[in-house]
Amino acid sequence: MTTSSAPGKIILFGEHAVVYGFPALAVPITQVQAIVTVTERDGTPGEIFIEAPDISLFSNLESLPSDHPLAAVIQSVLSALGISSPPPLTVHVTSTIPVASGLGSGAAVSIAILRALSAFFGQPLPDERVSALAYEVEKLHHGTPSGIDNTVITYAKPVYFIKNQPIEIFQVAKPFTLLIGDTGIASPTRAVVGDVRKLWEAEPVRFETIFDSVAGIARKARKAIESGETHLLGALMNENHALLQEMTVSSPELERLVEAARAAGADGAKLSGGGRGGNMIALVRPANAKKISAALLKSGARQTIITTITGLNV
Ligand code: MEV
Repeated sequence: MTTSSAPGKIILFGEHAVVYGFPALAVPITQVQAIVTVTERDGTPGEIFIEAPDISLFSNLESLPSDHPLAAVIQSVLSALGISSPPPLTVHVTSTIPVASGLGSGAAVSIAILRALSAFFGQPLPDERVSALAYEVEKLHHGTPSGIDNTVITYAKPVYFIKNQPIEIFQVAKPFTLLIGDTGIASPTRAVVGDVRKLWEAEPVRFETIFDSVAGIARKARKAIESGETHLLGALMNENHALLQEMTVSSPELERLVEAARAAGADGAKLSGGGRGGNMIALVRPANAKKISAALLKSGARQTIITTITGLNV
């Protein structure tokens, strides 16, 4: 039996713009995890049974369509390892990462499966390979993903990410505390990324200007985090949120949580991830975190997570 896990992630700055080659910052969130166990069982060689109780999926691999993300990731690891006839196996998948909420559930499940299966066969894949294979599966989830989710989750370190460029891990000079608030509204990233693409195609100059401003914020935020000037992050979050509003990816529920966090004393707040639902984040002082969390729950948050970003979130 082999078990692997992968954390969730949160985007601090730069979502959507990152799809068009602009920089973004993301960190792993270890309070939520995808966990995959691979066990040998009785049966016919080549038969792989997938159990994913969180999504009520209990199925043989061969009964799933080949573009189903779980089938695709299992097929991709078998082919990467050159295994054509595996022994009969059960692949058990569980996750505490809410689905379609901007916390990277799809990428985390793929990465935990890639690691658990490759370790089971005694050929653990290196990180670059895990991330690249997970990226192929991300395309099934997201259409035209930037690759930030599979990167930050594979390396489980804070990343400054630019599409198609070598990853840069950034340093966190001084810990800071984030409150994550879940609207409880599932919002598939693929649809929102597709809508932003249509708007960008219709008004390329306006959208490039917005993305450029987002890039400036991401660069300033990285500098602030690396120099320990974390008090600057709140205002940068508010600025980034205003630009996400211009991209039309906020929603009444996200607005309610962002406003509630600011009104309860957060230093800044923004939506995080694809938007139109999913999660928002707020920069909070540790002493205020519980009070602001209560304000979010009162304003409709399904759940909240308080997390301290230290750079050692592994
Ligand atoms: C999703 O976590 C972040 C987006 O920027 C999409 C992507 O980067 O692939 C919205």
